[in-house]
Amino acid sequence: MPASPSAYGPFSLAGQVAVVTGAGKGIGRACALMLAQAGADIALCARTQADLDAVAQEIRAMGRRAITVAGDVSLESTLDTLVARTVAELGKLTLLINNAGGAGPNNPQKMGGEAFSAVLTWNVTPAYMLIQKAVPLMQAAGGGAVVNISSVAARYAQKRFSAYGAAKAALNQMTRNLAHDFAPTVRINAIEPGTILTEALAPYLNAERTERMLSNTPMGRMGQPEDIAGAAVFLLSPAASWITGKILGVDGGVEAPNF
Ligand SMILES: NC(=O)c1ccc[n+]([C@@H]2O[C@H](COP(=O)([O-])OP(=O)(O)OC[C@H]3O[C@@H](n4cnc5c(N)ncnc54)[C@H](OP(=O)(O)O)[C@@H]3O)[C@@H](O)[C@H]2O)c1
Repeated sequence: MPASPSAYGPFSLAGQVAVVTGAGKGIGRACALMLAQAGADIALCARTQADLDAVAQEIRAMGRRAITVAGDVSLESTLDTLVARTVAELGKLTLLINNAGGAGPNNPQKMGGEAFSAVLTWNVTPAYMLIQKAVPLMQAAGGGAVVNISSVAARYAQKRFSAYGAAKAALNQMTRNLAHDFAPTVRINAIEPGTILTEALAPYLNAERTERMLSNTPMGRMGQPEDIAGAAVFLLSPAASWITGKILGVDGGVEAPNF
């Protein structure tokens, strides 16, 4: 039985309405569920309707409202629909998690400029545009908060991550700058997950890599999506009301690549 929102005290999100992108699986799904557990109603976006329906069902079983918007966040039409339906059906928009993103390793001797640019665009531009569309609604509601899901790849120097690392570093700096643009009514922070066990990570794991990761991670285990969700609830809650423009590492204590 999940704790009631009132048990969350200053970490409660009761009365809030959150948009979560990439909410059908992995980190986005865990964030949507934990935000709902903390009291928020949720607008879920990803491309696969069946995944969204399953998450929405879990949220409704907690007594919270959920809507689903199936679409690609790279398309402005999806973002417009997401924002408009959130306000029309859930009454307002006060919280946002920009989670959809990602990329695999790249070989800098093979990846051309077009593919490199696509990784940069995909990891940064939908988040920028969704913040731009959401902020006036947050301001109209009296305030709001945003979490962008970045990556530890933004801060390590490591082989084969020049595209993804650069893209997430850009997302971090965008977070810092937009936080200044929209303070004090809207807070904007980012989380840098370490290695989190999701479907996106699975293709890159084998026994040897897993062993290396575990031995190079001070906390001695891989991350779970719920590890990121807990940090997101905190950053979106009144308990974090003096935190903006910051990048929070949620990574089991790693300070160097463990991959
Ligand atoms: N897993 C890790 O170790 C790790 C580490 C650091 C950072 N991150 C970051 O965390 C975020 C989530 O990663 P994850 O591991 O949770 O991924 P995941 O398990 O693959 O889930 C990704 C979610 O995003 C949705 N999605 C993908 N493309 C989309 C698009 N164009 N438009 C709308 N939704 C889309 C997917 O659903 P559909 O395919 O149905 O659209 C799915 O619901 C990413 O930004 C990633 O860079 C992950």
